[in-house]
Amino acid sequence: MVSVSLRKRLRVSLHRNLIKLGIDTRKLRPDRKTLEKSIFPELVRSDEYHRILFVGCDWYTLHYPTLFRNKEFITMEISPDLAQYGAPNHIIDSCENISECFDANSLDCVILNGVFGFGLNESAAIQKTFHAIHTALRPEGLFVFGWNDLPNTVPLAIGQIEALERFRPYSFPLIHKSIYESESINRHRFHFYQKA
Ligand SMILES: C[S@@+](CC[C@H](N)C(=O)[O-])C[C@H]1O[C@@H](n2cnc3c(N)ncnc32)[C@H](O)[C@@H]1O
Repeated sequence: MVSVSLRKRLRVSLHRNLIKLGIDTRKLRPDRKTLEKSIFPELVRSDEYHRILFVGCDWYTLHYPTLFRNKEFITMEISPDLAQYGAPNHIIDSCENISECFDANSLDCVILNGVFGFGLNESAAIQKTFHAIHTALRPEGLFVFGWNDLPNTVPLAIGQIEALERFRPYSFPLIHKSIYESESINRHRFHFYQKA
């Protein structure tokens, strides 16, 4: 019998090799499709965003650095075990410490997707992270915040995240809204903000 961990290793290895040939065997939920087929292409296309930080990595994000090959794409993940899925420029640390890792006004875009409520759960850590993202972004830099609007994955009401008041909502091209509510079962939402 094939163990779960061996099955996962085979699946990841298959994905790693097939994706190089442009073959993607993953079954994408609508929110993941929005991220990869609408949000990412716009970021890649736009001259506005060169230095991009993506927080949280897993096997299904391992090819993201190749999608952003014309950019400076930096990944950050708290778990050392998941560094293997990060970009060549990868930081093993909590996103709470973004201010220690990046100068103020030095990033064009930060993508924090599926981390709030998935490890980033403590109120103080959440507040520190969002303040740090605001500080690290350059003026008019873009913050893409993806989260699941389900009771067990919302550790803090969005309205209580203080640093969000320092951003202005940004209507994302292609989506034409500052908040996109996906039809996925996980009630995933994308909020787009610009540093004021
Ligand atoms: C559900 S996955 C999301 C991965 C990816 N960002 C995405 O778009 O699917 C959550 C990831 O966030 C990582 N994570 C949780 N808390 C974190 C923190 N404070 N700083 C950095 N990464 C964290 C977890 O280890 C996990 O790999």
